[in-house]
Amino acid sequence: MAEQIKTNRPYPIQVKLRDGRSAAIRVMEPHDLDKIVEFAKELPADDLLFLRTDITDRNVVKQWIDNIKNGHTITLLAEIDGELAAYASVHLDQARWTRHIGEIRVITLPRYRGTGLGRRLVAEVFDLARSLGLKKITAQMTTDQTAARAAFEHLGFQVEAMLSDWVEDRRGRARDLLIMTHDVAGFSDRIVA
Ligand SMILES: CC(C)(COP(=O)(O)OP(=O)(O)OC[C@H]1O[C@@H](n2cnc3c(N)ncnc32)[C@H](O)[C@@H]1OP(=O)(O)O)[C@@H](O)C(=O)NCCC(=O)NCCS
Repeated sequence: MAEQIKTNRPYPIQVKLRDGRSAAIRVMEPHDLDKIVEFAKELPADDLLFLRTDITDRNVVKQWIDNIKNGHTITLLAEIDGELAAYASVHLDQARWTRHIGEIRVITLPRYRGTGLGRRLVAEVFDLARSLGLKKITAQMTTDQTAARAAFEHLGFQVEAMLSDWVEDRRGRARDLLIMTHDVAGFSDRIVA
């Protein structure tokens, strides 16, 4: 039976934001279900559309928690004055031939954006992903999610692929999807046939 991923990183940690406030970063636990559902209700419709799952749905969040319990996902939460302001997850690929790959997903509540929280959280979850021994770390976003692209580029992620018209927005308009990756310690260069 798989188990929740344990990290030896010293959470919770406090991080200072550009506006002088501080955020507490900690690992998401099963009892955070209601917090996530409340958080999701505050997200704009456009952001919800580009999430892989509808986290306003309690049952979907329960599945997320099951993924945490069985070690398929680990999520960091950032709280400001006790309110959930952002989260970032690493999803471990379950297929045998792609089990060295982890996908990062991140989102900040709009009222907390632009203060450095997203970048800090992505950096934390990226370190966590590397500490799990993942060799290739990926993130997916539409070409117009410029803040996300900036946050990942800052950590050395590069565009690996652009899939044209891959996703549809709320109005049914097609958008291009960017797949950004970070090749930990030159993993791809070491592959031999
Ligand atoms: C991506 C996201 C998490 C960034 O969160 P944040 O808390 O605003 O992050 P930061 O304040 O650290 O900003 C991150 C970078 O984006 C830039 N940025 C912030 N808002 C921006 C905007 N509206 N347009 C362009 N760049 C922007 C910042 O300048 C920063 O880059 P820099 O460090 O090089 O200056 C947030 O915008 C978000 O939740 N977006 C919707 C979900 C999403 O796109 N997720 C990514 C899919 S994995």
